[in-house]
Amino acid sequence: MILKVARLGHPVIRTPALAVDPAQINTHDFQRLLDDMVETMREYVGVGLAAPQVHLSLQVAVLEVERHPRYPDAPSVPLTFLINPEVTITDRAAIDEWEGCLSVPEMRGVTPRYRALRVKALGRDGAPLDFVARDFHARVIQHETDHLRGEVYLDRMRDLRTLAYLAEWQRFALKPGG
Ligand code: NI
Repeated sequence: MILKVARLGHPVIRTPALAVDPAQINTHDFQRLLDDMVETMREYVGVGLAAPQVHLSLQVAVLEVERHPRYPDAPSVPLTFLINPEVTITDRAAIDEWEGCLSVPEMRGVTPRYRALRVKALGRDGAPLDFVARDFHARVIQHETDHLRGEVYLDRMRDLRTLAYLAEWQRFALKPGG
């Protein structure tokens, strides 16, 4: 089922999400939520989706990158479920790139993200995940885990003057460096 996406201004987007009780992960309702989040992410052509974006204040995110039309040069990332993720930054070099968000529709802004991180989380079967992500993969994880703390990419932008409407961004082929 495709879920309704909360947009900036809905309080759920600014509310830190609650940890998931691991005993809930293998329930029918929770597994269905995960399926619905994947369906919603794909329907709206996102590379990630966090539960607060579908009005659920829970520490759950899904991500998937498959030759994305919005990020044609991005390496692919297999479908991943992150439940109660904990992120440790392992390379603090800041990389600027354009970002958008399904909760801030039709906009793009240059957003710095750390180059690499380590993430520990539970996967969709409740088993622990522990992996290192770099570059675009690390960017998507930072974007989604920010949502779980009630933060959006606009909060990370160093210069709000790069904020652009998608149509103009495409028309003028804007670059992160200006
Ligand atoms: Ni987002």
